[in-house]
Amino acid sequence: MSSIIEDIIARKIFNNRGEETIEVDVITASGFGRASAPAGKSRGKAEVRPYPVGGVDSALKKIDDIIAPELAGLNSDFQEEIDNILHEIDGTKDFKIIGGNTAFAISLANAEAAANSHGRLLFQFLGGSTANTLPFPLGNTISGGQHTRGKAPDIQEFLALPHGAETFLEAAMANAQIHKKIGEAIKKKDKLFSGGISSEGAWIANMGNIEAFDIIAKVCEEVGNEYNFECGFGIDVAAASMWKEEQQKYIYSREGKKLDTGEQLEYLSDLIETYRLVYVEDPFDENDFESFAELTKKTKNCLICGDDLFTTNNERLSQGIKLKAANSIIIKVNQIGTLTDAVETIETAQKHGYTTIVSHRSGDTCAWHIAHLAVSFKCPIIKTGTIEGARIAKLNELLRIEHFLGNRAKMANLKIK
Ligand code: PGA
Ligand code: ZN
Repeated sequence: MSSIIEDIIARKIFNNRGEETIEVDVITASGFGRASAPAGKSRGKAEVRPYPVGGVDSALKKIDDIIAPELAGLNSDFQEEIDNILHEIDGTKDFKIIGGNTAFAISLANAEAAANSHGRLLFQFLGGSTANTLPFPLGNTISGGQHTRGKAPDIQEFLALPHGAETFLEAAMANAQIHKKIGEAIKKKDKLFSGGISSEGAWIANMGNIEAFDIIAKVCEEVGNEYNFECGFGIDVAAASMWKEEQQKYIYSREGKKLDTGEQLEYLSDLIETYRLVYVEDPFDENDFESFAELTKKTKNCLICGDDLFTTNNERLSQGIKLKAANSIIIKVNQIGTLTDAVETIETAQKHGYTTIVSHRSGDTCAWHIAHLAVSFKCPIIKTGTIEGARIAKLNELLRIEHFLGNRAKMANLKIK
């Protein structure tokens, strides 16, 4: 059994939006790993660069000419060493030279190849024998903002979180049912609804925020009663995309509303209370740590989560922890580049009581690695949609893991703070 890297092969494939992305195979003497990179639409400004100048083609050439020869002969078991070499080859803080997506695909394919070389599944290899908890699925049901074109709510995502479920299968079933019933409710309300969905598989409907809240609230209650467990819900405001620096206002273009920071705080606090939201992601601009902290302090029984705020970056997270800016964090490995970087951020978050949420991106492939990461690192939530191919690939992988674990499987310890 040998984990020595024999070859690295990279190619161009497409994500679910038909955009070009990178896929990497890592071949060891006794194993194989394959990973592909997702793509964001509402990306945080502090994220690493996804590709070098020249895009995917240039990234592929860099792998063939420089990275593959450098990594060949090394042991894939030593993930940190592999990831450090990627940083050294690049030499910049934001992966400008090789691209964060290039680093991501190599790093994840390497981890899988190492696991496979030892005859183990990725979650077992990374998480050991205590990796037996399944995350709760946080699933997008209604899309708005940057994830839509034309008429839709200003808030980017309306998300279901069936946090009372006792198994992952039940939780995923509840989310699928919520998605279906929301589609029916929208049809009832809008006779012209044509069933459009976004990249993440969530409904795109001609309605405002409040109509969307009323629908998801009613449906989550119904499905909760049907399944006999709590189905909560929340939002990703993605407020950085609404914030206009010159005007110092959040622009709600559909509703024709402009809110200053104080009004945004009030608006969101009211929504949290009225609809008993259990989850609010990126409520303010990505540099406004102070307003995040005010909302976190004001709010009970709701996760206040940083995505664009933290960009999976350990330094930004540490700043947030100091300021008590949030109580949870989105982990998107390609925001930071390598698995080692992301694990460092997860560990800091967990040490400080932050709820860690491993996440897909709006443009994604059928790669399933994040499902394993959620189990390995005991992340209590995975944000990965409710339907649509790239989302289902991850949900199905978690069903396989739950099945594989059998009696040992349990749901993660999720506290809604
Ligand atoms: P993405 O963002 O489009 O950059 O993946 C989704 C999100 O804001 O969570
Ligand atoms: Zn987000």
